This record gives sequence, C-alpha cells and structure tokens, in this order.
Amino acid sequence: MKALILSGGTGTRLRPITHTSAKQLIPVANKPILFYAIEAIKEAGINDMGIIVGDTREEVKEAVGDGERWGINVTYIEQEAPLGLAHAVKISQDFLKDDSFVMFLGDNLIREGITSLVQEFEREKPAAQILLAQVEHPERFGVAELKDGKVVHLVEKPKNPPSNYALVGVYMFDSNIFTAVNNIKPSWRDELEITDAIQYLITTGYEVRPHIIEGWWKDTGRLEDLLEANRIILEDMESYCEGEVDEDSQLAGRVRIEKGAKIINSSIRGPAVIGENTIIENSYIGPFTAVYYDAKVSNSEIEHSIILEKSTISDIARIEESLVGKGVEITRSDRKPKAYRLMLGDNSNISLV
Ligand code: TTP
Repeated sequence: MKALILSGGTGTRLRPITHTSAKQLIPVANKPILFYAIEAIKEAGINDMGIIVGDTREEVKEAVGDGERWGINVTYIEQEAPLGLAHAVKISQDFLKDDSFVMFLGDNLIREGITSLVQEFEREKPAAQILLAQVEHPERFGVAELKDGKVVHLVEKPKNPPSNYALVGVYMFDSNIFTAVNNIKPSWRDELEITDAIQYLITTGYEVRPHIIEGWWKDTGRLEDLLEANRIILEDMESYCEGEVDEDSQLAGRVRIEKGAKIINSSIRGPAVIGENTIIENSYIGPFTAVYYDAKVSNSEIEHSIILEKSTISDIARIEESLVGKGVEITRSDRKPKAYRLMLGDNSNISLV
C-alpha cells in the first residue's frame, strides 16, 4: 500500500499565516502538523508516500526532505492549482499505479492513528473506506448519510446536513477510484470533489465501507481548531527539561523545555512547551502554550497560544488564544504621542483592549 498526503491548498481560513507559509507546517505542540500524518502512516507500515504540493512547495520540501529521517520514500507531486481533493488523486496516478492507498489530508490530526484502519481495509478489501466522526457543525464538512450501516449518500458542506457524520480527512482507496475521478465534473466551486468521486463509486455499485471513529480528530483549517489541537496534544505530553531554568523560575505541571532554551525569573505552568534556544524572561507562560524555537518573551504573559519561531514579545500584559507568526515583534513603546503603531499583513486579525 502507498500513501498520498495532501499538502497543497490555499488555506484561506488561516490567513495571513498562509499568505507566506504552508498551514500544514504550523507546529502543534512544537511539531509541524504534517509530521503527525507522516508518522501515523509510517506506523501503519506504509513507507511509500506521495506528497501533493502547491504554492508552498519549497517550504514543504525543505521541511520533509527525502523522508530519510523517518526511513520513508517521498515523491513530491506538483498540483498547479488547488483544484480539489479528487484532482489531487487524479494527478497522482503515475505514482500510485494500481496500488491501494491511504489519502491523508496534511492538516488533519487523528489521535488513534491509522494502523488498525489500514489493517481493516486490507482485510475487508472494499473499493473505499471512509472515516466518519460525529460533529456539532456538519454543514462545515463533507457529510455521509448511512442506512443499515452502509454509506448511501455523500454531500459536501450541505446547508441541510442529512446526518452529523462528518468525513474525517483520511480515506482508503483501491485503484477503482481512478475511474471515479476521471468520470466526475468540477463542482460549483470549480473543484473536483472527493465526495463526488466516492458517490460515483457508491452509485456504480462498489463497496464504500464506513468506519466511525470514537477518539478525537481535528481538521486544523481554522484558528480555533489549531489551538484546540495544541491543547489536546500538550495534555498528553511528557515533561522534560533539556534547557536551563534559573533558581528564580518555577515550572508547574507538564512542561517541556527544549535544548538551549533559557527560563529566567519566570513561571511556566503546564502543559506547555518552550522550543529550542527560546528565551523566557520575567514572564508567565500559562497552560496550553507552545513557543517554538529562537523566540524571546520578556516581561509578558501568554496563555493558550502558539508562538512561532523567531518572534519577540516584550512588555505585553497578556496574550491569550493567539497564533503569532514567524519573526513577529510585539512590543510596547514609550514614544509620544501614545498610540498603537502597527505593521500588519493583509487579512491580519487583532483584538486590542
Ligand atoms: P482544505 O482545508 O479543504 O482547503 P484549503 O487548504 O484550500 O483551505 P481553505 O478552505 O481554508 O482555503 O484542504 C484540505 C487539505 O488538502 C489541506 O491540507 C490542503 C490540501 N489540498 C490540496 O493539497 N489540494 C487541493 O486541491 C485542495 C482543495 C486541498
């Protein structure tokens, strides 16, 4: 079996971060989301992975490389534009050939991994196996209608959902999916929809097996979901300290201090992670916070947030529920007249008090 990981797309819901970076590389608990997918696939015994890349191809290639770090073979597949999940399958036929494969959306996280799901697929040999999860807002997802435990109908982001079973971003297919993706037409949003391709399989009599997952799963396409994923993963993390913590600092709860990080006169209340060579000085880092590498936080308080690499935060009373991009500087100034002085990228989002 092979794997196809989708790491293209536009990521409009995570602008402005996605104006310049791949959303799949945003770190959750200080590890890029995409790496969780690679590790889950590897754990299921699959070593041949195709990665769909779009505008952020260079960044993804640099982060993943040839896959040697995980002992896997990576083939990059260029998608000229985000023309849909089924389009991604269509352009991958040369790589996938006649093999069955797992398709994994590169911005999805699934706690229970996929090992037993892959085994189930290999044992039962349906044309497709889809994962479903009960959600509160099915209208935001692809939704499945089930009858007697079978999938009878799939619909993409329906205004009136037929059930609350959302399609999770992990699918398994045999090579019949190519007939489907070659026979469907683009949807109203001009994308080749994977739901239409799977619907084609159902209509033409192939078996599409549903598997309802019980554990948590996150599509991290929106800020709230990213912060929630960060919270859940941090909760499960092991504590360790490979950096320096001075005697005026306190660590409480589950805290991970990575190599070269320095904690000076500060309080870190876990679960939290402080990345490599990051400096935290005269500050409070609260639960569910991940500060990535080479960052600096001084005289500030941060809680329930993700701070990316090389950012500086100083003299800020409190930051909560935020995603701060790379190399961002947030500081206070005594300059007169007193005013907010901002340089914000397009589609930035700030709430001031
Ligand atoms: P989505 O989150 O559905 O789409 P998007 O990334 O364009 O985001 P937004 O809706 O905020 O604009 O995509 C799911 C995953 O699949 C994500 O990792 C991006 C990837 N993808 C592709 O690789 N190619 C595509 O054509 C599409 C639509 C998505």
